Amino acid sequence: MDNSLITVRVADRQVAAQDIVVLELAAAQGGALPAFAPGAHIDLHLPGGLIRQYSLAGDCARTDRYRIAILREPQSRGGSVAAHERIQRDDLLQISPPRNRFPLVPAPGSLLLAGGIGVTPLLCMALKLQADGAAFHLHYSCRTRARAAFLDALAAPALAAHVGLHFDDEPDTQLDLAAELAVAQPGTQLYVCGPLGYIDYVLGQARAAGMPESAIHIERFALDDAERPVPTEQDVAFQVQLASTGEIFDIPADESITSALDRQGVFIPVSCEEGICGTCLTGVVEGIPDHRDTYLTDEEHAANDQFTPCCSRARTPKLVLDL
Ligand code: FES
Repeated sequence: MDNSLITVRVADRQVAAQDIVVLELAAAQGGALPAFAPGAHIDLHLPGGLIRQYSLAGDCARTDRYRIAILREPQSRGGSVAAHERIQRDDLLQISPPRNRFPLVPAPGSLLLAGGIGVTPLLCMALKLQADGAAFHLHYSCRTRARAAFLDALAAPALAAHVGLHFDDEPDTQLDLAAELAVAQPGTQLYVCGPLGYIDYVLGQARAAGMPESAIHIERFALDDAERPVPTEQDVAFQVQLASTGEIFDIPADESITSALDRQGVFIPVSCEEGICGTCLTGVVEGIPDHRDTYLTDEEHAANDQFTPCCSRARTPKLVLDL
């Protein structure tokens, strides 16, 4: 797990659509940034201390710059507003290395379904699939044309034949997803990213069409209320030890590990604080975590060698962390 932060310079900042800014990030010292594969995202450390995740939208063949797009969401917890109002060209920012929970899978066909700002990882996938000569189609649904970013890139001759644009206020552009799924060849992989309602709609259509769960890939950065990890009455106190120093800290029954450690002078960066983003991911050297996140896979949970301390707890009286 490489959690070391990278300092980047905002090499370009463009208003790409209504309420969307696109940032180009270059290594502050020059040179290449870490390579990434389509579907990867970074943590962006925002002015004011918030950390937010953004998918990389650019061509993964280029590592001189990362491209991200940020939707202004006034109802959110403040990250997008800070990004819109306080980041300017030539600012220095810190980012995590790219992480990828949404990789492309080799397949006879790929169906990319983007809702709104969810186009970002899917544009990156489309560029890669097009470069590889693979069969794919990208459907990009937006409320209006004015709110759609990257229309120029999607209109490029190499991509345009693979792209469908769908706008809520242009009824003749409506997506017929059932028809699209009906003609998808066996083995097609479906990738969806967008608002929760859009993801639910796509999942419903894909399941109704008989698409196997293993062929459906979802990227999201928010949870439904019902999915959020919540404290339970069975939660008990336990201890956490830092492997590097041997120091031991008490974690009360009613406080998260990250909060209790922070109060005692040990800082672990957090973002979502509900187990979906992976920002707080920490190695476990000894003891068994009580995993409560949706970030790690079942196999990763079973390995018990890393966990998300923002929401997870302990099944053993003590956890020794790789800190
Ligand atoms: S802060 Fe997002 S998973 Fe812990």
